[in-house]
Amino acid sequence: MSQQDEAKKLAGRRVIQDFIHDGMKLGLGSGTTSHFFVRELGKHVAEGLKLTCTTTSRSTIDVAREVGIEITDPNDIGELDLTVDGPDEIDRSFNMIKGGGACLLWEKIVAHASKRMICVTDETKIVDCLGKFPLPVEVVQFAWKQTERMVARTLAQHGIENARIERRMRDGQPVVTDSGNFILDCHCGPVINDPAPMEIELNRIPGVVENGLFTREAAGMVVGCFDGSSYVTM
Ligand code: 5RP
Repeated sequence: MSQQDEAKKLAGRRVIQDFIHDGMKLGLGSGTTSHFFVRELGKHVAEGLKLTCTTTSRSTIDVAREVGIEITDPNDIGELDLTVDGPDEIDRSFNMIKGGGACLLWEKIVAHASKRMICVTDETKIVDCLGKFPLPVEVVQFAWKQTERMVARTLAQHGIENARIERRMRDGQPVVTDSGNFILDCHCGPVINDPAPMEIELNRIPGVVENGLFTREAAGMVVGCFDGSSYVTM
């Protein structure tokens, strides 16, 4: 296992130790870091920890079931106590870019359905300024090139001229999200200085379903480090 994967695993262990208690209603995030966390959580559930869980993607449903965690439909769970999820980038105010795994819409819905969200990450994802990781924007398939033009215009209004925008492809086919939409990856560079208003303005464009800026969700982060330590910042 790579050093980075070891660090992701440490963060998952630490979040269980510090934040998860019997009887909680939990949102399970997506991506490799969250999946390490879900696999660790499965061990505790097997030993008797009682939780009610829902997830943020079809892939996490599969991982959870594989390790014996029962999944409740998000419509039937009510308010969640906590969502644990990983970022693609996070700054020290807990603003994040998410959606590298194309799950941003469900991730944001579940985060907002929760009293609290805690982010699990390895130390490499902490940045001073967001944007080196391409910002994913989920758009409906209809007239997506028109929506793309509007996204470029909004980015320019935030001082990001000439962002390269690419519809996400895999194996020669456009990626389609769990909700049936396309993803536009916006290569901005590490220059997103005002993520909170930009998040809101991108979402005002007709055709945009959601974007990968998460500026109001995380209450803190649990960080796994390459030296084998971990820490929590709130
Ligand atoms: C999926 C996500 C993931 O949470 C994010 O991409 C982090 O993934 P990983 O833990 O594999 O680096 O936002 O849409």
